[in-house]
Amino acid sequence: MSGYGCAGMIRIARLPGVFRPLSDTWMLAAAARRQPRMRGGRVLDLCTGSGAVAISAARAGARSVTAVDVSQRAVWTVRLNARLNGVRVEARRGDLLDAVGEERFDVICANPPYLPAVEDARAARGAARHTEAGHAGRTVLDRIIAAAPAHLLPGGVLLVIHSSVNGEGATVDRMRAAGLEPLVVERRRGPLGPLLTARAPILEARGLLPSGERHEDLLVVRGRA
Ligand SMILES: C[S@@+](CC[C@H](N)C(=O)[O-])C[C@H]1O[C@@H](n2cnc3c(N)ncnc32)[C@H](O)[C@@H]1O
Repeated sequence: MSGYGCAGMIRIARLPGVFRPLSDTWMLAAAARRQPRMRGGRVLDLCTGSGAVAISAARAGARSVTAVDVSQRAVWTVRLNARLNGVRVEARRGDLLDAVGEERFDVICANPPYLPAVEDARAARGAARHTEAGHAGRTVLDRIIAAAPAHLLPGGVLLVIHSSVNGEGATVDRMRAAGLEPLVVERRRGPLGPLLTARAPILEARGLLPSGERHEDLLVVRGRA
């Protein structure tokens, strides 16, 4: 076990190499808990990592919670954390929505990798798989938005979290194009983290960050089916 933490009432342990929940994790978990369809609903947490969002949903009264990650260690970690917190979460290894066949959900949540990468090719392994997401940081995000509508029950919602450097307008436009009704439901302004700060000149050159800007908004965007 490489880490053991407590946030609110949720206890989180992690196998080595599994993403440590950060402020965006808890921001997404809180936004998901506020969705009316959460209580008694079928919930899917994509890119689940330690399972923090999935476990929060289970504790908030979801009828069923499925958690998906491409990492086998993450899947083992989710099972461990579900036991630690006394909740049922079905953890599956797989590539985003390919892992759920034809199943449909009331709420689909995702805190995907969304860091604009220095190289465009997405890293397949290691810590970079948690964060790196192509030139605009949208490779995983855009796949989720495109595929989610086929897995939402009528009136169900997709909730994604990302930074303003990824483009609020791009998420809104892609949700509309996918047939979802978009709304920014949470916004939190703060200084760029260390990874984005180090890449700020690259982001400025790509037009992802206004010149001299060193703050970002964390956004939770909801798309309703
Ligand atoms: C930024 S971390 C977020 C983890 C967790 N949701 C949280 O908020 O603490 C992104 C996670 O996405 C997973 N991931 C990356 N690509 C994926 C894919 N194609 N399918 C499923 N999971 C993926 C990584 O293994 C990592 O656990």
